[in-house]
Amino acid sequence: MIASAYLAPEELEGVLAEELDRAGITIAAWHGRLALSPDPPADAAWALDIWTAPREIAAPSVKVAADGLRALQRNWAAYAAAHHRRMALIAARLPPVKARKLRFPEPPPTSHLGAWTLLAPDLMLASPTKTSPFVNGECRFEEDRSGPPSRAYLKLWEACTRIGARPCPGEHCIDLGAAPGGWTWAIARLGAAVLAVDRADLEPGVAAMPGVAVRRESAFGLAPEPVDWLFSDVIAYPNRLLALVQRWIAAGAPRHIVCTLKFQGATDHAAAAAFAAIPGGRVMHLFHNKHELTFVWRQDAQVGAHFPP
Ligand SMILES: C[S@@+](CC[C@H](N)C(=O)[O-])C[C@H]1O[C@@H](n2cnc3c(N)ncnc32)[C@H](O)[C@@H]1O
Repeated sequence: MIASAYLAPEELEGVLAEELDRAGITIAAWHGRLALSPDPPADAAWALDIWTAPREIAAPSVKVAADGLRALQRNWAAYAAAHHRRMALIAARLPPVKARKLRFPEPPPTSHLGAWTLLAPDLMLASPTKTSPFVNGECRFEEDRSGPPSRAYLKLWEACTRIGARPCPGEHCIDLGAAPGGWTWAIARLGAAVLAVDRADLEPGVAAMPGVAVRRESAFGLAPEPVDWLFSDVIAYPNRLLALVQRWIAAGAPRHIVCTLKFQGATDHAAAAAFAAIPGGRVMHLFHNKHELTFVWRQDAQVGAHFPP
C-alpha cells in the first residue's frame, strides 16, 4: 500500500532518494518523478510536493475515474508521468484548476488542492491532501524581464511567498553575494534599505537604486550587525555558510535569514541537516532552486515544526 508520495524536482530524483534513504523512508517504486512509499508521510526538504494521503482508486473508465475524484473533493491537480491522453480526458471532466502565475507579493493560493495521477490506464493514485498549494509544487511568477540583471530574484520572491513575510519599507537588509544584483533589486523594489556585499561589481542600475548601498568585500569577513533581514546567495561550501549563519544568530543580529545552500558534486546532506536543526529554521527546495536548498529562519518563530507550505 502506498502511504505517501514525494515529488522530486527535475533531475534531482537521486538527491531526494538519498534524503529519503537517510530518513529511513522506503521508496517502493518511482512513477516519473514521484517516489511512492509505504511509509507514513514525513518532511523532506528536497521534495517539491508531498502527497500526504494517497490512495489507489480503480479507474475502469474515464467517467468513473473523474466521478471518483469529484466524489472526494472539488480541486485536483494532475501529475502526468504516463498515460497522458487518458489523463487529459479525465482532467477535462474535472473543474479546471488554474495554475495562474503569481504577481509578487501576492500570497499563494488558499483553495484546497489535491493531486492525482494514473499509475496504470485503469488505476489512479489520488491524494486529497498535499503539502504545496501549487500544482506540482511549481510556484511561478509574472516575471520582470527588464529590471533585474539575473533571474535569481525569483528565488527570493519564492522564499518570501512561502514563508509569508518579506522586507518592508523602513527595514534594513544585508544581501551577501549580491552581484550582479537580482536579490538586491527585489529587496530595493519592496522599499527596504539594503547593503549589497560582494567581491564582484553590482550592475550599475541596481547599485544606483534608492536605498541600495554597496560594499565590495568578502561576506565572511563582515561582523554581525543588527538587521531585519540577512540574505545570502553566496557561492560557498555549505559548512562555511553554516558557520557564518551560526555566528550571526549567536550575535542576535538578524530578525530573519534567507540563504541559499549550494551543492557542487555530491549533496552534503549532513550540512543540510545541521541547518534544519537550527531552532526556528527550516530548509526547503524551492521550485526556482537548482542543486540548492534554501534555509529560512525567524528569530521569533519555530517554523521548522511544520510541513512546508
Ligand atoms: C549566484 S551569485 C549571486 C546572485 C545574486 N543573488 C543575484 O540575484 O544576482 C553568487 C555571488 O556570490 C559572490 N561571492 C562568492 N564568494 C563570495 C564571498 N566570499 N563574499 C562575497 N561574495 C561572494 C560571487 O561574486 C557571486 O556574485
